[in-house]
Amino acid sequence: MKMNHSQLDQILANLCVNARDAIAGVGKVTIETANTVFDAEYCARHAGFVPGDYVLLAVSDNGCGMDAETLSRIFEPFFTTKEVGQGTGLGLASVYGAVTQNNGLINTYSEPGQGTTFKIYLPRHTDIVVQATAEPQQAAARGSETVLLVEDEPMMLELTMSMLEQLGYTVLAARTPGEAMRLAREHSGSIDLLITDVVMPEMNGRDLAGNLLALYPGMKCLFMSGYTANVIAHHGVLEEGVHFLEKPFLMTDLAANIRKALGQ
Ligand SMILES: Nc1ncnc2c1ncn2[C@@H]1O[C@H](COP(=O)(O)OP(=O)(O)O)[C@@H](O)[C@H]1O
Ligand SMILES: [Mg+2]
Repeated sequence: MKMNHSQLDQILANLCVNARDAIAGVGKVTIETANTVFDAEYCARHAGFVPGDYVLLAVSDNGCGMDAETLSRIFEPFFTTKEVGQGTGLGLASVYGAVTQNNGLINTYSEPGQGTTFKIYLPRHTDIVVQATAEPQQAAARGSETVLLVEDEPMMLELTMSMLEQLGYTVLAARTPGEAMRLAREHSGSIDLLITDVVMPEMNGRDLAGNLLALYPGMKCLFMSGYTANVIAHHGVLEEGVHFLEKPFLMTDLAANIRKALGQ
């Protein structure tokens, strides 16, 4: 990362203060880092993303979370839901400024009552000059099974559905666990795989999977979430050994994780 240290401090401080404020009583703040790559295929689907190597900085809390209305305004200067004297509404505006100034990106995942994860991606720089890898892009593994996809975020649903169709799958798509149950009841053929968001307003992904397995006992499950695997595990929503895919993901990741979940 080639970033001014004080800017990085500012980002971390603001995210951590917000995480603290979101927690009433005892809670948990998780800070994680990772190296990550966005390929051309991913960037074609995500406005603002430029292919390359990035450093991920994720700050998560298990506090109050946000509704969609709040979420849509958090980066606005002076937007605050805190009482007068408590919030300035400038924390996230400054985070946004520092990140974009460094050609970085921010993804936010939050649900009311379910905590929040901020994922910040900053371009990775290395002092060592690495020879440009002309590695051929690994082809995404295809399949023709029937997949039930459940995702409450409309854009993410659309995106994942189009990836699945491009990979050859037959897709039943639902925006809510209730709709997924209805689709599953009305569907006449087999459902080979459930791909579901973990944290949803109505019912969590694990409980949904439990209900669906009663209808389709042979169905395999792949869980996905914008919260990191670490945070999800601490929520106690997923047991060890389950198939889990962290959002955002590349099409090649999705493809490989599906084959793994299906046992191939
Ligand atoms: N981790 C979080 N959990 C819940 N809400 C958050 C979180 N981070 C930010 N917010 C929401 O975004 C708003 C804007 O945040 P920010 O720009 O830092 O201003 P401030 O903290 O001064 O209110 C907050 O008032 C709050 O509603
Ligand atoms: Mg703040």
